[in-house]
Amino acid sequence: MKSELNGKTILLGVSGGIAAYKTPELVRLLKKAGASVQVFMTEPAKQFVTPVTLGTVSENPVLSDVFPGNREGSWTVHIHQARRAALFIVAPATANTLAKLAHGHADNMLTTTYLALPPEVPVLIVPAMDTDMFVHPATQANLEILRGRGHVILPPDDGPLASGLSGPGRMPEPAKIAETAAGILKSEPKILAGKRVLISAGPTREPIDPVRFISNYSSGKMGFALAETAARLGAEVTLVSGPVHLSDPAGLRVIRVESALEMQKALESEFPRTDLLIMAAAVADYRVETVAGSKIKKEDSGNLELKLVKNPDILAGLGKKKKHQTLVGFALETDRIVENATRKLKEKNLDAIVLNRANEPGAGFETDTNIVKILFPDGTVTEFSKMLKKDLAGQILSVCSRVMEHNHV
Ligand SMILES: Cc1cc2nc3c(=O)[nH]c(=O)nc-3n(C[C@H](O)[C@H](O)[C@H](O)COP(=O)(O)O)c2cc1C
Repeated sequence: MKSELNGKTILLGVSGGIAAYKTPELVRLLKKAGASVQVFMTEPAKQFVTPVTLGTVSENPVLSDVFPGNREGSWTVHIHQARRAALFIVAPATANTLAKLAHGHADNMLTTTYLALPPEVPVLIVPAMDTDMFVHPATQANLEILRGRGHVILPPDDGPLASGLSGPGRMPEPAKIAETAAGILKSEPKILAGKRVLISAGPTREPIDPVRFISNYSSGKMGFALAETAARLGAEVTLVSGPVHLSDPAGLRVIRVESALEMQKALESEFPRTDLLIMAAAVADYRVETVAGSKIKKEDSGNLELKLVKNPDILAGLGKKKKHQTLVGFALETDRIVENATRKLKEKNLDAIVLNRANEPGAGFETDTNIVKILFPDGTVTEFSKMLKKDLAGQILSVCSRVMEHNHV
């Protein structure tokens, strides 16, 4: 069977951990599968494996210095390397290099090339270090940042470590790393290529006074997963997000808003040039009629009564303006769920509605998983079992792509 690695250019960053001694074998396996491999080494990595060895097995001179002296045409070599990469692997990734990658340092050839990667190049990071270093909150926070950027983190194996201790921290065997690399490169059909996708995510905040607001528990995870996946599937994506604790995904445009009215303005201005709108935001139904200009003081009032007025129904408004667009809404219902969602689907002129179950474990706002059904105007229903929001995003977008095809967009 032909490997996914065949004919691909793999950039391999080797940093200064003891497991660097396993990297010649990794290079050998990647080459055997038909890849061409360019190795980048940090200076500390050279204490564990020599550039001569890695240069020989990769059949390419190893790169380390950002200022490489007399190499011909070399000043922007990291940019050229980055642009021809099919995949960037960092193995082993030391705690130090993880921190640099997470925070955008560019002080050696490995970290500088990482920053120069085009957003569509996938990144595989293989951390390897002593258990205490691995479980340290600083390392875990850095890994979370890298994961949030959509990079694949191959978790370390649990077992005996160079320090004599035992625990998670061992670099997985080269065969496992090569297999993971091939899995990442497995070509995903770009089913949304050429499509402009608009996605809303997160809650909205409706101000009461300069320091208080009304909001809801939406984490934005589902909308962000949809946006990242749509970009990976080839779409040009704009994500309009309410306030969430998620960083901007790479490779797409993010517009941050606070209130329902701000979200409405952003979506309405983007809508005409959109092919598919997925409204995954949990927009507040009501806002405070009169927002106090300064902080409401306790002693100024007895009980505080707020008059709430209805926010515009953004999706229904866009449903009325719909021309070529495909519109998909989300419904989070607690009672008479299918009946209520079907009514929304019709009233708002939608092409599909994704029905969330609010009151089941593993579904709803703050979880990483979700359980949904998708309802269509002709009464058909597609049901999905509990799955990660990330995986569900792929399923929802593949349904959307079929609906768009049907709508002849
Ligand atoms: C014998 C020895 C083994 C080491 N092994 C590791 C390791 O497995 N993982 C790690 O994160 N750091 C390890 N270090 C520490 C790194 O080499 C050190 O943090 C270095 O600054 C990493 O630089 P780099 O990320 O630029 O390669 C080791 C150090 C020594 C002396």
